[in-house]
Amino acid sequence: MKKLNGLVAIVTGAGEGIGESIALELSNNGAKIVCVDINKDSGTKTLNKINQNNGEAIFVNSDISKPSQVKEMVKIATSEFNSIDILINNAAKFTFGSVEDVTQEEWEEVLRVNVIGYANCAKECLPFLKNSNRSAVVNLASVSSIIAGPKFVPYNTTKGAVLMLTRSLAVDFAEFGIRVNAVCPGSIHTSATYKHIEHMGTDVEKTLDEFRQSSLLKRQGKPEEVAKAVLFLASYDDSSFITGENLIVDGGLTYT
Ligand SMILES: NC(=O)c1ccc[n+]([C@@H]2O[C@H](COP(=O)([O-])OP(=O)(O)OC[C@H]3O[C@@H](n4cnc5c(N)ncnc54)[C@H](O)[C@@H]3O)[C@@H](O)[C@H]2O)c1
Repeated sequence: MKKLNGLVAIVTGAGEGIGESIALELSNNGAKIVCVDINKDSGTKTLNKINQNNGEAIFVNSDISKPSQVKEMVKIATSEFNSIDILINNAAKFTFGSVEDVTQEEWEEVLRVNVIGYANCAKECLPFLKNSNRSAVVNLASVSSIIAGPKFVPYNTTKGAVLMLTRSLAVDFAEFGIRVNAVCPGSIHTSATYKHIEHMGTDVEKTLDEFRQSSLLKRQGKPEEVAKAVLFLASYDDSSFITGENLIVDGGLTYT
């Protein structure tokens, strides 16, 4: 019997990187997956991978920063699978810079995706999570929720907010038995790594090496390593008495 047999999980930003690995990991553990992504091609790719592994999934092309699209996404998910047990808030916008660099529009957009989008997904899923006795929400925060890198103001600010959103939802959802936790990845090798390097304007190989050296384990993490931590917090059997918590998966970066 697989850990998540019979459960339905929504994974936002499932098209690539950490979200793709989470969708595959939860599917391998028996969950039916609602792959959500703003990018149709990458979302469909993840759906195809799940299908090839004999998993059950649908893809919903949705922008989590748009409340009407989040509502519609939940409607499609529940008309297909009838229930929602697990919500993984993973999709994010990577807006970097100092306060002098970032425009009003960029600020509003990054807050709409990384903070309000997470809250809206939780809000729309709530009636269904209440009906599950194995429900869980896992929010992707970051080591940027805890440590402030230079010229990273919008991203850092939103990821700090994700931690407090996690604790606040844990408080409010506890009466319904819904656990809400966060995972804080360190430097994980995905397309976001290259967005980060492009922003810094530094040499790619040299910067990759700096990222590796910044962790105690002297390497970047793999998306699959974050997905295992998310599975732990999503699985009632594994983490039934854990809520409002923040699991750091950074190879010791925050201890160096
Ligand atoms: N990669 C890292 O080093 C790292 C470190 C710490 C935290 N994180 C967090 O992990 C999560 C995943 O990061 P990643 O590196 O896999 O990113 P990624 O850019 O590789 O993938 C993000 C996915 O989200 C989708 N997406 C973006 N905006 C969306 C929207 N508005 N609606 C729906 N889908 C949208 C993208 O199309 C993409 O498929 C993010 O929350 C990120 O902040 C990543």
